[in-house]
Amino acid sequence: MTQGAQPSPARRTVLGAAGAAAVLGAATVLPAGTAHADEARGGENRGGGHGRGYRSLPAPTVIAHRGASGYRPEHTLGSYRHALDLGAHVIEQDLVPTRDGHLVCRHENDITGTTDVADHPEFASRKTTKSVDGTSLTGWFTEDFTLAELKTLRAKERIPGTRQENTLYDGRWTIPTFEEVLRWAEEEGRRRGREIWLHVETKHPTYFRGLGLGLEERLARLLRRYGRHRAHSPVFLQSFEPSSIQRLAKLVDSPRVVLLSGAGSRPWDFVQAGDPRTVADLVTPAGLRWIASYAQGIGPTLDLVIPKDASGRLGTPTALVRDAHAEGLILHPYTHRNENAFLPADFRRGTDPNAYGDSFGALKRYLETGIDGIFSDNTDTALLAAADFTARD
Ligand code: G3P
Ligand code: CA
Repeated sequence: MTQGAQPSPARRTVLGAAGAAAVLGAATVLPAGTAHADEARGGENRGGGHGRGYRSLPAPTVIAHRGASGYRPEHTLGSYRHALDLGAHVIEQDLVPTRDGHLVCRHENDITGTTDVADHPEFASRKTTKSVDGTSLTGWFTEDFTLAELKTLRAKERIPGTRQENTLYDGRWTIPTFEEVLRWAEEEGRRRGREIWLHVETKHPTYFRGLGLGLEERLARLLRRYGRHRAHSPVFLQSFEPSSIQRLAKLVDSPRVVLLSGAGSRPWDFVQAGDPRTVADLVTPAGLRWIASYAQGIGPTLDLVIPKDASGRLGTPTALVRDAHAEGLILHPYTHRNENAFLPADFRRGTDPNAYGDSFGALKRYLETGIDGIFSDNTDTALLAAADFTARD
C-alpha cells in the first residue's frame, strides 16, 4: 500500500476555517458507524474524509499541538474540544500503550508530570527508573498500568510554572484512549457538520515493539474500525522513526508524515539498526526522495526551516521547503508557542519568559517560507497569523 510522492500542486485551495466548514458543509454529517457507512457507499471515503484528502485542507494548516495545550492540560478531551472551538484545522494526538495493549493519548509514556499518579499511594511501588530511547527516566510509565488503572488518574498541566492559568483545569479530565478520541471526532463531526482531522504520532515505536507492545498494528486496527485507513481519510500519521511510518504504509493508506528533529540527531530506529544516517542526511534532496517513497510529508523542527544564529535570532531560511516540495512532500513543522521562552530571541518582548512575545512576528517569518502547516500550542494565534498571510496572496 505504499504510495509514491504526489505532484506538488501549483497552489492549494485556500479556505479559512469558517469557509472550509461551509464548503464541506452538511454533506459531511454522517450516521453513526462512519466506517460502515463509508463501505456502503462503495468503498470511497466520502464520509469522514469527504473524498478530498489532505490536499484540500486550508493552507497554511493550523494543527493544534496536543490540543489547545496553551490553554488546557495537554492531551485531554477538554484540550481537543477547545482547539476545535478555536477553529483548529487538525487536532494532534501522541500515542503510547498500556500494559494490556490499549493506545492512550500522552506525549510520553512517563506520566509523572501530566497526571496525579504521584498522589496515588496504591501506585507508589510502580515508580521506577528505566531507559527509553537511550535516556534514563525515573517516574511512572503507561506500560506498567492497565487501562483500568490509568483511568483512575486525572490529567494535569505539564508546565504549571509557565502556564499557571491552565492549572485551573487540573483534575478535570482523565487520560483519553485513542478509540475514545475517534468516537469523539465522529460525534464532533456530526455536531459541527464538518470532518474532524487528526494528526496521530506513534511514540517510541521501537522501544514498545521490544516490549511486545507494537503500536502500528494496534493503530491500524483502530483506523480501519473507524474508517480512517484510506488515502483520503481525515488523518495524518506521524513518527520520528521512519521505520514506523514504513510499517504503517504497509497496513493502511492514510497520509503519513516523517518527523525530523535536529540536524545532528539520529532517529532511534536508525540507532538500533546501525543505520548511520542523521537528520542532516534525510533533509538532502536524496534523503527527501527516500522519504517521499513511503510518506506524503515531513514534520521538521522549525529550526530546520529557519535556523537561529548564536544569539537565538532567526537567520536565513534553508532550502528545505523548496527541496521537500520538489519531491511532492508537504511540510508541517513544529512547534509554535506564544511565550517568550519558546520564541526566537528577536521576537521576545520584555524579560519575563512566561509572558507572550511578538508571536505574530515570528509566525509571519515562518509562514513566509511556504510551509504547508504548523503545529501550534496557540490555535487562535496561529489562525490569525494564517489569515493575515493568506490575505496577502
Ligand atoms: O509531532 C509534532 C510535534 O508534536 C513533535 O514534537 O515532541 O511535541 O511530539 P513533540
Ligand atoms: Ca507530537
